[in-house]
Amino acid sequence: MIPVNEPLLDGNEKRYLLECIDTGWISSEGPFVERFEAEMAARVGRKHGVAVTNGSAALEAAVVALGLGPGDEVILPTFTIISCAAAVVRASATPVLVDCDPVTWNMDVAQAADRITPRTKAIMVVHIYGLPADMDPLLALAERHGLKIIEDAAEMHGQAYRGRPCGSFGDLSVFSFYPNKHVTTGEGGMILTDDAALAERCRSLRNLCFQPGRRFVHEELGWNLRMSNLQAAVGVAQLERLDESVARKRRMGRRYTELLAGVPGLQLPLASTEYAENIYWVYGVVLGDAVPFDAEEAMRRLRPAGVGTRPFFWPMHEQPVFRKMGLFLDEHYPVAERIAHRGFYLPSGLALTDSQIEQVSRAVREQLV
Ligand SMILES: Cc1ncc(COP(=O)(O)O)c(C=O)c1O
Repeated sequence: MIPVNEPLLDGNEKRYLLECIDTGWISSEGPFVERFEAEMAARVGRKHGVAVTNGSAALEAAVVALGLGPGDEVILPTFTIISCAAAVVRASATPVLVDCDPVTWNMDVAQAADRITPRTKAIMVVHIYGLPADMDPLLALAERHGLKIIEDAAEMHGQAYRGRPCGSFGDLSVFSFYPNKHVTTGEGGMILTDDAALAERCRSLRNLCFQPGRRFVHEELGWNLRMSNLQAAVGVAQLERLDESVARKRRMGRRYTELLAGVPGLQLPLASTEYAENIYWVYGVVLGDAVPFDAEEAMRRLRPAGVGTRPFFWPMHEQPVFRKMGLFLDEHYPVAERIAHRGFYLPSGLALTDSQIEQVSRAVREQLV
């Protein structure tokens, strides 16, 4: 089976891990954590980085750090991972959804503008699958209405919007370092910001809100979201290779597109938009309306050919867990609904070889036409 995602760990990962073992520094107190934070921050042009246990936790801490809570509305795309809406709901704020663009799959900026009310406090911008959301109009909207921006750059290591690094926008940005990302730490995440006070608040939330001076007396509740030195050691090694990884993913994406161009009814990812070149975090495809089966059936057909796949995100407004909470009832977002049913992605990991890409593409042609 060609796995849908396999990481590449052939740089300095082993060397740095051995350094942790040899020195005994394995907890979050070890030196790789601060080094990873500083190097990630430098890479995206931010002043501060706060390493945490995963991207979902980063989003939760970011929402709380910005003081979002009951009565506050946060606009976000319906087409995203549950972590985004969950962070808003867990803070007792109100998620307000928008549909996505049928070609880039990123949030619809015009709809975001339409959904602003006097209670709107923030926009959670999420970059999806390889192309960034259209940041400039979103930043202008936030500026005009005095809104905070959380930039979810979980999938965007090494990507830029009009030449500005993803992860550099808004009040706070977050990354994930899950093994399918261009930089992995096994499990891991980071919050980045230019605001020293916000960074300090995130550090406190990450560390159970221990107080300086009165460590075990707590004014508020945080979490233990600390990243270990072992994880950060892997992250530092991965970051050294980021440019190479992005170039490799771009080559893989272009190769898939060459091999799959012309497959009837198959929408392929855009190579670029006016503001960014695709980094193909994953190589997503969408079945056209004329194709007489859906993504589930397509993935079922590809399995015996040894091709691992993943479905697209399932929209937030169709999540049973939110419906049970009375959220998003009677809301419809036709683009997200369509791509959720008709979209899936092909093996996209950094360890994928050229011959595997050829094998996958052959299987797609044989099984889906
Ligand atoms: C857009 C987006 N946000 C957040 C996350 C959550 O990150 P993690 O899996 O590290 O919790 C992911 C995970 O892939 C993601 O794709």
